[in-house]
Amino acid sequence: MSFQTIRRPSASGSQSARSVTVRRASRADLPALERIEAESFSGDRLSPRSLRTLIARPSASVLVAQLGAEVVGSVIVLYRRTASVGRLYSLAVEPRARGLGVAVKLLGAAEEDAVSRRQSAVRLEVRADNAAAIALYDRAGYRISGRRTNYYQDGETALLFRKTLAPQKAAASVARAAAAAR
Ligand SMILES: CC(C)(COP(=O)(O)OP(=O)(O)OC[C@H]1O[C@@H](n2cnc3c(N)ncnc32)[C@H](O)[C@@H]1OP(=O)(O)O)[C@@H](O)C(=O)NCCC(=O)NCCS
Repeated sequence: MSFQTIRRPSASGSQSARSVTVRRASRADLPALERIEAESFSGDRLSPRSLRTLIARPSASVLVAQLGAEVVGSVIVLYRRTASVGRLYSLAVEPRARGLGVAVKLLGAAEEDAVSRRQSAVRLEVRADNAAAIALYDRAGYRISGRRTNYYQDGETALLFRKTLAPQKAAASVARAAAAAR
């Protein structure tokens, strides 16, 4: 399957994925996480309370990407004791930091996190009209495993994506993604 590509800024210039670091979020990151949610989603947003709960929840990983001193993106993965498939619950990069490879780095870090928790795959849902995210997941090796009509608040369909993680495979795909983002 191929997806339409939208013109967007290139990663050239002084800021690039090279200066991006990914780390685990703490409560101090809540204002930045709330800002990124507000700037990235018009509906189905995570509330400040949900974000605070997720940061503290052992069965969730909330990771943030920093560009210099600033938090510019986040990814949230949810886990279940009874399942070996992590759910990529949210991924967002603030508008002015897009096109720099930040999402690729966050996705790689989320996959590493899932591997460290002995997960065999990662799954996620994405709006069928979200061309940028669909292209990102397609490029990162995610494949469509189903669809759910009328899934979002506004009635949009969700595409279900899934990627199988082998420990060595995940490490290699993270390295590839980082190299491609340079
Ligand atoms: C989708 C999103 C996370 C991408 O973040 P980003 O940091 O700009 O993405 P990257 O720079 O890492 O791009 C990696 C790849 O994603 C795809 N991509 C990203 N933005 C794209 C766009 N506007 N159009 C087409 N493809 C795009 C491309 O395949 C790109 O690879 P390339 O640079 O070699 O073309 C960001 O646009 C965003 O936060 N959107 C709003 C929230 C959202 O939709 N989250 C996903 C919900 S499931």
